[in-house]
Amino acid sequence: MSGLVLPARVRLVEVGPRDGLQNEPGTVPTALKAELIARLVAAGLPAVEVGSFVSPKWIPQMADSADVLAQIDWDQPVDYPVLTPNMKGFENALAAGAREVAVFGAASEGFSQRNINCSIAESLDRFAPVCAAARDRGIKVRGYISCVLGCPYEGDVAPAAVAAVAERLLAMGCYEISLGDTIGTGTPAKAQAMVEAVARVVPRERLAAHFHDTYGQALANLLAVMEKGMAVIDSSVGGLGGCPYANGAAGNVATEDVVYMLDGLGVETGVDLDAVIAAAWFVCDALGRRPASKVALALEGRVRKSA
Ligand code: HMG
Ligand code: MG
Repeated sequence: MSGLVLPARVRLVEVGPRDGLQNEPGTVPTALKAELIARLVAAGLPAVEVGSFVSPKWIPQMADSADVLAQIDWDQPVDYPVLTPNMKGFENALAAGAREVAVFGAASEGFSQRNINCSIAESLDRFAPVCAAARDRGIKVRGYISCVLGCPYEGDVAPAAVAAVAERLLAMGCYEISLGDTIGTGTPAKAQAMVEAVARVVPRERLAAHFHDTYGQALANLLAVMEKGMAVIDSSVGGLGGCPYANGAAGNVATEDVVYMLDGLGVETGVDLDAVIAAAWFVCDALGRRPASKVALALEGRVRKSA
C-alpha cells in the first residue's frame, strides 16, 4: 500500500485465554478454556498465553491454570506462555509443565502497587530471580510493561519511564518486551513517540505491542507502531478482556480485527481469519455475550454458515 512502510510478516500472540478471561465475573470451566486454546492453535496462532500463576485470591479466574496446562496439546509448534509475578508463581508454573513464562511490571508506580502490591523497583527485584531460574532451565521469559501510554491512577506516563523498565527487563534476559496500553488511552503519535524512546534501549524487533481497545484507538496505534518497525502484536479473540486493576478498561484489540487489517495490507500472519472468528463466536456463545470485535459481528453469517 502506498505511503506505508510495514513489516512483511507479523507474529501474533493470542492472549485471550489469559488476559481475555482473567476478569470474567462467572466461572469459566477449564474444559472451555482448553477447547478455546485448541481452536486458536488450529487457527494458526503461533503463541497462545494460556494462564497465570498468581494469587488465586487476587485473580480467582486463573486458579485452574495448572489444569489448563494439563489439557493442552504440547505437540503443536506453539508457544504457551503463562504469567509468573514471582518465584512462587514460577515454581508452580514449572511444576505444571510450563515452557515459557512472562513477568509483568509497570511504568507507573500507582499501577504497580495496585496490580502486584509492590513498587517498580521491588517488582524488578522479584523478576530477576525468575529470569535467572528460567535461564538455568532453558525456559523463555517474556517481559510485560503496563501503562506505557497512560495510567488509571497517575495519568500521563513519560516514555522515558517505559524505556527505563524495558532496559532492565531486557538486561535480566527477557527475550521480548510487550508494551501494554493497559487502559487504551493512547493515540498514534503518542504510541510512536513511546516506541522511539524504548527503541533507543531495546532493539525494536524485540518489542511487542499489547494494546487494549477502550477508546477504539488500538488498530490505529498498531499501524503507527508497525510503521516504526514493530512486528509482534498481542491480541485477544473476540476482543475479550480487561484488567481487574484498571477500572473500566476494555479488552485487548480483537485478534480477528488485527488479522482482517493485516490481511488487507498484505502483511502475513499465518492465521486463518474465519477460524479466529469462529473461535470468537464459540467462546462468546459459551459466555453468553456478543464479541466486541466489529469483524466478528460483520462476518458472523459467513462463519456460522460454514460451521
Ligand atoms: P502479595 O500479597 O504482595 O504477595 O501479592 P506475598 O508474597 O506477600 O504473599 C501473600 C500471599 O499470596 C501468600 O499466601 C502467598 O503464598 C501468596 P497466604 O500465606 O496469604 O496464603 N502468593 C501466591 N499464590 C499463588 N501464586 C503466586 C503467589 N505469590 C504469593 N505467584 C502477587 C503479590 C503478585 C502474588 C499478587 O499481587 C497477585 O497475584 N496479583 C495479581 C496480578 C494480576 O494477575 N494482574 C492481572 C494480570 S497483569 C495484566 O493484566 C496486564 C497485562 O495484560 C499487560 C497490560 O495490559 O498492561 C500483562
Ligand atoms: Mg493486558
